[in-house]
Amino acid sequence: MEINALEFDRLAREVFAPVYPVLAEQIISRTGITRGGCLDIGCGGGYLGLALAQITDLETILFDESQDMLNLAQGYISQNGLDSRVKTLLGDVHDMPLEDESVNLVVSRGSMFFWENRVQAFREVYRVLAVGGAGMIGGGFGNAELLREIEIKMLKKDPEWKEKRQQRIGQTKVEEYRKELEQAGISSFEITRDEAGLWITISKTA
Ligand SMILES: C[S@@+](CC[C@H](N)C(=O)[O-])C[C@H]1O[C@@H](n2cnc3c(N)ncnc32)[C@H](O)[C@@H]1O
Repeated sequence: MEINALEFDRLAREVFAPVYPVLAEQIISRTGITRGGCLDIGCGGGYLGLALAQITDLETILFDESQDMLNLAQGYISQNGLDSRVKTLLGDVHDMPLEDESVNLVVSRGSMFFWENRVQAFREVYRVLAVGGAGMIGGGFGNAELLREIEIKMLKKDPEWKEKRQQRIGQTKVEEYRKELEQAGISSFEITRDEAGLWITISKTA
């Protein structure tokens, strides 16, 4: 499904902006990975990957199937003075133009709900992940307080926002994602869910 880049970016800047630095801190505290290669899949305007690059030494790839999104992301990379460490890459999560075991940290927020074949996409995530690396894939809003603030704004724009959120990150989805990860041949994963989000943490050990 094609997402309107300008429309989504406006939402990201006006409503979701405070979420990305909070998520970046949570990802670092959960995975402990602060150097090497990072891949932000379905990066949109690149806010999560940029927030991670700002607090680490990670060499980051902002990856998306939409060139319009990547054009916006490139603008934000330059605005943040991160051109030497953050690059964009166009492609589809189902067949990523990346070497096996080439990335230490994979992150993805709000994108997996649009992937046509999540089993294949999870296989790809695991393929590109280096041994000792970790992936955090999911959706969410950082913490309950941020969620409450965002919910007020989003319900004014879309009265069905709460239901739509549940359809993606509600408790009923946990079993579905678990089955897909198992079908992808991944055994070392954990699914965590709270009011503010649902995250799949994948680790790759020797
Ligand atoms: C809702 S946006 C989230 C953007 C960003 N991660 C954020 O949280 O602000 C979903 C993004 O996933 C991208 N996307 C969807 N399907 C994809 C696929 N098969 N391969 C790569 N990117 C994809 C879309 O182009 C879009 O930029």
